[in-house]
Amino acid sequence: MAGNQSVDPIYETNPMYSAWLQYRPIEDDTRLSLYREWCRHVVFLGHTPGSTIMRAAKRELSIGLQSMLKSEIAFSESAPATRHIAVGTLTVEDAKQEGLDAERFASLAADGYAIATTESGGTSRVLIAGRNDAGTLYGVFHLLRLLNGGNFLEELSVYEASKNALRMLNHWDNMDGSIERGYAGKSIFYRDGHIVANLTRIRDYARLLASVGLNAISVNNVNVHSVETRLITDEVLPDVARLANVFREYGIRLFLSVNFASPIEIGGMNTADPVDPSVLGWWKERVQRIYRHIPDFGGVVVKADSEFRPGPFTYGRNHVDGANMFADALKDFGGVVVWRCFVYNCLQDWRDRSTDRARAAYDHFKPLDGGFRENVILQIKNGPMDFQVREPVSPLFGALTRTNQMLELQVTQEYTGQQKHLCYLVPQWKEVLEFDTFAKGEGSLVSRVADGSLFGRPIGGIAAVSNVGDDENWTGHPLAQANLYGYGRLAWNPDLSAEQITDEWISMTFAAKDSTRRVMSRILLSSWSVYESYTAPLGVGWMVNPGHHYGPNVDGYEYSKWGTYHFADCRGIGVDRTENTGTGYTAQYHSPHRERFESLSTCPDEFVLFFHHVPYTHRLHSGKTVIQHIYDSHFEGVEQAETLRLSWESLQGNIDETWYQATLRRLDVQVEHSKEWRDQINTYFYRKSGIPDEKDRTIY
Ligand code: GCU
Repeated sequence: MAGNQSVDPIYETNPMYSAWLQYRPIEDDTRLSLYREWCRHVVFLGHTPGSTIMRAAKRELSIGLQSMLKSEIAFSESAPATRHIAVGTLTVEDAKQEGLDAERFASLAADGYAIATTESGGTSRVLIAGRNDAGTLYGVFHLLRLLNGGNFLEELSVYEASKNALRMLNHWDNMDGSIERGYAGKSIFYRDGHIVANLTRIRDYARLLASVGLNAISVNNVNVHSVETRLITDEVLPDVARLANVFREYGIRLFLSVNFASPIEIGGMNTADPVDPSVLGWWKERVQRIYRHIPDFGGVVVKADSEFRPGPFTYGRNHVDGANMFADALKDFGGVVVWRCFVYNCLQDWRDRSTDRARAAYDHFKPLDGGFRENVILQIKNGPMDFQVREPVSPLFGALTRTNQMLELQVTQEYTGQQKHLCYLVPQWKEVLEFDTFAKGEGSLVSRVADGSLFGRPIGGIAAVSNVGDDENWTGHPLAQANLYGYGRLAWNPDLSAEQITDEWISMTFAAKDSTRRVMSRILLSSWSVYESYTAPLGVGWMVNPGHHYGPNVDGYEYSKWGTYHFADCRGIGVDRTENTGTGYTAQYHSPHRERFESLSTCPDEFVLFFHHVPYTHRLHSGKTVIQHIYDSHFEGVEQAETLRLSWESLQGNIDETWYQATLRRLDVQVEHSKEWRDQINTYFYRKSGIPDEKDRTIY
């Protein structure tokens, strides 16, 4: 039931559509002639040269090389007597024959690859060898990145693989074309209740994702409404399969979010009880059908018993019962269950100080550790609340030792400026990934919990909510493309530094001089902290307008049922989450964090209001009082936003005008909105506390 929409717009006319796959011509003449010498001939080796992924690899090399080298590329099956590129998926034995370090090659994960300069038939060549076809494709993208970065090819010896088996994007797209928390137009997958007919754009998206090593995608909202519940019916599955076919060309497996109550809603049953054999039987049969249409279907994403979604609680069962039912249905096909841990009481009363939403994921899932099947992965949001600008890392990381887990991030900027404001999140994600849980002593980083290595789990990874829509530039704010790029690169390799990722993105995207790149890098890397300065202070979060979550509203969530309070009154502000006098949340962390967060004398300033209720006169480690910090950061935040814009203005003429203008328009909006934030927050706290600003600035 493909949609009968008219022909898609010609996106290619907008340079931003190519995102970081610009493949700009090499300008340095020496480098250009060297690269031409190496790359004019490409030879395909291995046993799978005709596979769909290898065809994509070939297409990419042809686009990338021809564009960067401004010359024709000859593809052949036999090696020329001159320098060349050789590409193929190799067995370990073949890799050895071809001159690679067989031991290193063999130690790479399934979709790893090597890129090495080797001698063959009396000539040098650059060999790109994947462990499987997807690995070869990643190797091709890696080589193209190296060329873009001006690297020498003479002595390459790259052996790379990702430690994260699943590197996933979650789309919160609905079939009417809307996107929950989408800020870049409508869905690229759906229009008017149907899957789009023209898949050109989906293929371009798959290219972008594969270029950074992503290998899994769920294509519908975790809140599965009635229309989307039907995605797993025979009526719609042929169309879903069309999407899966496109992603498969790029080594990406398709997942669906499913409705726990499907047996009732589309199966005509009167129960969805996960331990009822007839319910399991229904799901088994359903899964078989899915695999008939999509043989490499990745599995299901499930939001159950969360924010009014149905789940096992209805039947007096728990999350192990729920998740394992899906696991049993998927097991024989190699599918996995991504089970979300975003489970909390969303019908709270603000007077109730003992229930703490931050505790919820741990309280629900820690007791279930060890009960989940091997093909279940618990998906845990980075923080204990909900993708706020600043949250501590969820203590569930490090608490589960016998359960597969993956980290969930939000690339879409729900609480971080909705792609109107610039908020480059790679520095935030780096902090999360590098957080030491101390679960097995020092060095127990979140990145190692997520990839499964810390507790020897068979499978793990990272997922993130996509920030993409059908805007011509994909992400609304042009610079929000950097968040998507950065997420993918981190999912592939969490050890990359924020600076390296940023430099890469800039140089892939813009033809820019070094000085321009430096300015742009500073703009990006400072933007999260700028956004934090003029929004909710000291880790307290939630001072946004209810529902859509954009713009300041200090008490927006203060008296509602969502469990998201700051408890500001005339004396003080913050949530007491200590063991001693508060909700006991701090006890969910391993030492030394437990003690560090518990005590005001050691709690980091940026989290003080998350963990403690303090008077406005409480002195922070910075030496400022809380109230003065609020005023200063809000005045400074606006100044910093203005500086971001001024820095951007300094780039005019040095980067493509389309990017320049589109970004400038967003920065104008950001500066104006930052003032609104500043004034609302400052006025509120001045009025509540009665304490004037030491510097006597304008507070309304
Ligand atoms: C947030 C977001 C919702 C989303 C939910 C989730 O609460 O506002 O739109 O459904 O997270 O992650 O499930």
